[in-house]
Amino acid sequence: MKNLSTVVIGGGIIGLSIAWRLVREGHQVTVVEKGKVGAEASRVAAGMLAASAEVGFEELELYHLCRESLRIWPEFARELESDSGIQVDYRSNGTLIVAHDADAATALKRGFDFQKENHYPVEWLSREETLDLEPFLSPRIVASVFASEDHAVDNRLVLKGLQRAISNLGGQIIEEAEVLGIVFSGDMVDVQIEGRPPVTANVAVIAAGAWSRQIAGIPTPDVPPVRPVKGQILELKMDRPFELNHVVRGRKAYLVPRSDGRLIVGATSEEMGFDKRMTAGGVFSVLEGAWEMVPGILDLELLGIDVGLRPGSRDHQPIVGYCMDRRLYMATGHYRHGVILSAVTALESAKSILSGKDSPVFGQFSPKRFARHEI
Ligand code: GLY
Repeated sequence: MKNLSTVVIGGGIIGLSIAWRLVREGHQVTVVEKGKVGAEASRVAAGMLAASAEVGFEELELYHLCRESLRIWPEFARELESDSGIQVDYRSNGTLIVAHDADAATALKRGFDFQKENHYPVEWLSREETLDLEPFLSPRIVASVFASEDHAVDNRLVLKGLQRAISNLGGQIIEEAEVLGIVFSGDMVDVQIEGRPPVTANVAVIAAGAWSRQIAGIPTPDVPPVRPVKGQILELKMDRPFELNHVVRGRKAYLVPRSDGRLIVGATSEEMGFDKRMTAGGVFSVLEGAWEMVPGILDLELLGIDVGLRPGSRDHQPIVGYCMDRRLYMATGHYRHGVILSAVTALESAKSILSGKDSPVFGQFSPKRFARHEI
């Protein structure tokens, strides 16, 4: 049975991606965003599609979900480019996970052994092999792991593309719309908005990132346990002869090159609530971590600093699927993986919302895993 209409609360990469896949199927969709779409965590991300390099030890289920999303990302990007007319700078050069000293190399080897045991597509590179791939890495580095199947995308272009594609296909986006709460009525759900008429739909998708638990009217068992995890990020300008072609990451920082010459350097991970101040300490720690791997960055022009609040869930896994009340669908808690997971979240959520059935792909990431616990 097809739902007739959906309202998506939250215009970040997750909410917009779900909305785009739904309007593509001819479904009626309204996105309600408290500020400007794509102006929070999704914009501040680096755009790594880094299943092997980003997912931690023993997070195998999350790894497999990221791999599945990475598998569908190239087609997702092509379709988005075609629907929007915006190119998203999809890059498939791979990631180098670098050990800048002997201790880091020991830790890297432990991680590599785990990755090999679990069949990640990674390769151990000596210092010389690493420097052959990226001559601007520090000559002091000890070794690296090359994750050749990790990709990257320009998240800001993806956000622009999503906004344009939704509008081109007839979806509605309402910005500067503060949600006062959701109210259930019969088979429908009303999203009440300050100073505007409510939006009524068959399903409301909560995709409000770190703000998802603040939406009034979510029944208590369905309130998602998400909190903001602050990330500070820098943007530099690569100037010849300086050049990086791969994503480079180490223990304290990552560097993500864009085709237009920008270099994104991130990111802190801070438990500071909704505090969005940029701090000297945050910038210092990111720069120090990046400088240990790529000393030449100190000469690059600093284009900007930005702060985002990632939605971290209680178990640091995404929260996606129908709630106990099936007029409510949750898509939040993507934490450090919002960009890579947007493809699988959007495709599977759209399928779920159109069919009314749960997605097996998101079985263990269902919001119902929290439903019996105190929030
Ligand atoms: N995925 C990168 C970050 O959250 O900083």
